[in-house]
Amino acid sequence: MKKGEKILFGVVALIVIIALGNFAVLEWLGFTSKKPIFTVVTHYDFSAEGLRGFELYRQSDCYSCHRAVGSGTNMGLNLDGIGSNHSLDYLYNFLKYPEKTYRAKTVGHGLSPKEADYVSALPDADLHALAVFLSQLKADQGSATAFEPPKGESGFIDAMLDMWVPDGWRNQFKDVRDRWKSKEQEGQQRDGSH
Ligand code: HEC
Repeated sequence: MKKGEKILFGVVALIVIIALGNFAVLEWLGFTSKKPIFTVVTHYDFSAEGLRGFELYRQSDCYSCHRAVGSGTNMGLNLDGIGSNHSLDYLYNFLKYPEKTYRAKTVGHGLSPKEADYVSALPDADLHALAVFLSQLKADQGSATAFEPPKGESGFIDAMLDMWVPDGWRNQFKDVRDRWKSKEQEGQQRDGSH
């Protein structure tokens, strides 16, 4: 071997040894954290009918306009979390009679020539399974699809409110987080009186 080659191989070997050493220190001495970086706020618990509905959802082309369970398109509505905003009855009625049920003019669902006209014509049992599936797309508090912000103090939310909320709103609307706070205090007082 030439001198240059020796130096080159030596440097490469040194880098490999250092990398392995770092790996060993981090892995085997337990410096890696098992704690997740973010708390998981999304989960899906489907019943047997809900799972059948999920299958129908995938077979019936809903994906071409919707997003749910982490996949699909962003063309239409995101359906994740819809089970926390609407009842099973509403969802079934929307699928079956979209124009009567939706509180605005429909664009996709409804009678021909609307593009999702085929949905209301699906067999009743299928529509029910689809509605059950949709009703089980729950949004946990604090998830991106939930209406309620994460629990606890958040300097970020406070700063955003200070920046964006018009003064009039403070008198007109209540901060949901104050409601949780007063509930917690009630709880503490009750616990204290024992
Ligand atoms: C051609 C595109 C398209 C297809 C395909 C489609 N949708 Fe929709 N969907 C829409 C649009 C657009 C809306 C908003 C309401 C409207 O204008 O029709 C909507 C709304 C919804 C809503 C929300 C109703 C509400 O009140 O928030 C649900 C639930 C829904 N669709 C379920 C489905 C299911 C289940 C399928 C498959 C069987 C499906 N959609 C297929 C376009 C589509």
